[in-house]
Amino acid sequence: MPITVAFDVYGTLIDTHGVVVEIEKHVGNTASEFSRIWREKQLEYSFRRGLMQNYENFEVCTSNALDYTSSFFKIPLSRQAKEELLNAYKILPAFGDVKEGLIRAKESGFRMFAFSNGTADAVEMLLMTAGIRNLFLGVVSVDEIKSFKPNPAVYSHFLRKSGAVGADAWLVSSNPFDVIGAISSGMRAAWVQRSPEALFDPWGIEPTITVSSLSILADKIANEHAKA
Ligand code: 2OP
Repeated sequence: MPITVAFDVYGTLIDTHGVVVEIEKHVGNTASEFSRIWREKQLEYSFRRGLMQNYENFEVCTSNALDYTSSFFKIPLSRQAKEELLNAYKILPAFGDVKEGLIRAKESGFRMFAFSNGTADAVEMLLMTAGIRNLFLGVVSVDEIKSFKPNPAVYSHFLRKSGAVGADAWLVSSNPFDVIGAISSGMRAAWVQRSPEALFDPWGIEPTITVSSLSILADKIANEHAKA
């Protein structure tokens, strides 16, 4: 069986903190902290909407989280400022190691998909802007089943859609909740530990492999399969 790889998008391929430069224009030197809280709330809102079965797409989570963050910092944003920030979120940059790592993975013969909480349109736009869309066979979005990671249903949806089975399917993500969700659903998973300070949740469920960059990902995945 060929190896199928689901690449998480926000935070793994695409740098969500790439929006800091745009945030700085509106909020000054709290931009980094603003960006961190915006991202945390965006994810929290996705988890809560998933649990409540009260689905609105990821763009709504992002927009609601931006409103929360502007209230938290007591920095009111005009309609235009909000639009500028949400537009910047649609064209975020890829991390520096991404293109090379994806090319290496494609050369290894992996069947590669982008797999995201984002809508298919939003993910297509991000991948096109980053110049990496052509490296993927397709985009699988949770929007197709109106729920969010780490609902086990979204990982099953990925397997069905990609025509893969769990033992030959990998999730690659820098988000520990995503790695734990995929492993709990019978996939293998690589955690991309993008900084030495990034912590993995102490749940007793470990990533199959951990990499510090996508450059070494393909070789590590191939080694794991050679062992089996
Ligand atoms: C994604 O699904 C989890 O935000 C992350 O792209």
